[in-house]
Amino acid sequence: MKIVLITGATGGIGKQIAISLAKLGFTIVITGRNKENGEAAVTEIQKIAGNNNIELLIGDLSSFDGITSLVEQFCHKFQKLDILIHNAGSATQKLLKSKNGIELNFAINVIAPFLLTKLLLSSLKNSDNPRVICVTGGDIPKKLEIDNIQCEKVFKGLASYSQSKLMMMIVMYELSQQNINEKFTVNICYPGQASTIMTQSVTKEMFPKLMQPIFPIFKMITKPDNGKSAQKASKSSVFLATKESLKDITGKYYNKKCKEIKLPACVLDIGNRKYLWNYVNNLIT
Ligand SMILES: NC(=O)c1ccc[n+]([C@@H]2O[C@H](COP(=O)([O-])OP(=O)(O)OC[C@H]3O[C@@H](n4cnc5c(N)ncnc54)[C@H](OP(=O)(O)O)[C@@H]3O)[C@@H](O)[C@H]2O)c1
Repeated sequence: MKIVLITGATGGIGKQIAISLAKLGFTIVITGRNKENGEAAVTEIQKIAGNNNIELLIGDLSSFDGITSLVEQFCHKFQKLDILIHNAGSATQKLLKSKNGIELNFAINVIAPFLLTKLLLSSLKNSDNPRVICVTGGDIPKKLEIDNIQCEKVFKGLASYSQSKLMMMIVMYELSQQNINEKFTVNICYPGQASTIMTQSVTKEMFPKLMQPIFPIFKMITKPDNGKSAQKASKSSVFLATKESLKDITGKYYNKKCKEIKLPACVLDIGNRKYLWNYVNNLIT
């Protein structure tokens, strides 16, 4: 029986990933911060998928103790982890800090996937074919803003969210390359746009000035649709989790249509990789 852990799966795209994988008979472990929402999601996934093996873990991915608590809860219940899907993401409206004093998008989008993977490595290594899947997002920038990692210079709304997703890609790609001979794989996918709490919380001010006139169009294409667009956006994660031919494939990037595409040059850049690797490791130790 394959065990899948999906972060931020009490709603949005994560819940749709959970439903699809539950339909295939996997044991699904979902995480969220809110117990009530989480329990409602478990019931819904069980009912739609006809699979009762759905577990809920409560923890805030923005803090170190939230992450370690999730790992403790998981290891208490399960001996192995087959698939780890880093789906939870954050796009704040303004500059916010986590309880550990880390810029919130950086904490949730970069630190959490890295630290969670690191702490779950021994569980992953107990699987025959462990897979780590990272959900990216935003308009991936061409350049890493090395002097603005935690928005020290300026917070730029959606552009800062996109920078944090770029940084997640750099760190997780570096993780894949440092573990190229290990049994676990690490791949990245882009889900495509979906109507979720995240997109519904985007404000006009989060858009770059020049793009603000298209805000009404964005609002229109992200109006609530009962999970329809989120279901579509779950496909690339489900593909990476299930495709047999990807068994030994690591360090790759897939678009919303599940097609492999080139990783941006600034993700492959060895200088960026080394810099962020050290930066992130210094923060978590
Ligand atoms: N929606 C899009 O158009 C789009 C486009 C490209 C990429 N993406 C990416 O796709 C992923 C999923 O996005 P989504 O739109 O489905 O997001 P969403 O609807 O906002 O996701 C909500 C899920 O994340 C959990 N969550 C939020 N903050 C958390 C935290 N600090 N700790 C633990 N759990 C947390 C929520 O549960 P609780 O509230 O209970 O904590 C819920 O389960 C993200 O990585 C996002 O960046 C989305």
